[in-house]
Amino acid sequence: MRIFCEKDYVSLSRRAADIIIGAVNKKPDCVLGLATGSTPIGVYDMLSSACAAGKVSFARVRTVNLDEYMGLAAGDPASYRAFMNEHLFRRIDIDIANTHIPDASAGDENIRCARYDALIESLGGVDLQLLGIGRNGHIGFNEPSPYFSVGTHEAELSQSTRRANAAFFGNDENAVPKSAITMGIGSIMKARSILLLASGEAKREALTRAVRGNVDPMVPASVLQLHGDVSVICDFQID
Ligand code: F6R
Repeated sequence: MRIFCEKDYVSLSRRAADIIIGAVNKKPDCVLGLATGSTPIGVYDMLSSACAAGKVSFARVRTVNLDEYMGLAAGDPASYRAFMNEHLFRRIDIDIANTHIPDASAGDENIRCARYDALIESLGGVDLQLLGIGRNGHIGFNEPSPYFSVGTHEAELSQSTRRANAAFFGNDENAVPKSAITMGIGSIMKARSILLLASGEAKREALTRAVRGNVDPMVPASVLQLHGDVSVICDFQID
């Protein structure tokens, strides 16, 4: 595990964007695993600028996102599909048909989750997975639990996660959906390479427990200690 403690959010975003641009330039048809939330917005801005400047092309890239809220109407501006379109997909030269987000519409979620895992397999697996971290150590929407999840599944969101995500729902935590479809810990660990971002003092404790503590499903990100190719980028110091 490589840990880069950067001086601020811009430097964190720059380092992460450079790693992603390097991966895409090395393998133009790579599969990127992507995250939403506040943390990667700066990275997505830099990727969009680099694409506009001709420094990278996403024309052949395929993407799979980690998660999507359950129970939102198609096209809801708070959906992760809308987030990705706004912050990245509409701003780069990617073919939108090559962008994939878990299907959180009504119906049998077991079938839809199995289809998402099969889709990732059919793309050849994820080359580079981008992750944020929750204050409780979650990755994707894999919340602290007595065991590590395996594949894509429906997950109940903890109260602290709903509170943290209220900003995207008019600051009303009751408006944040109670569950989501998320890639599992097993799916994340299959990525060939992983990039974990943590920005702000509020993430220090979770990140420290994840990278310095025991591997423990109550700190889901700690499982990354068992992966052979992880880069962690934060904008604070950790001991
Ligand atoms: C988002 C996701 C979440 C976030 C995490 C941190 O797709 O899977 O695990 O990465 O909740 O969110 P921010 O970046 O908003 O602090």
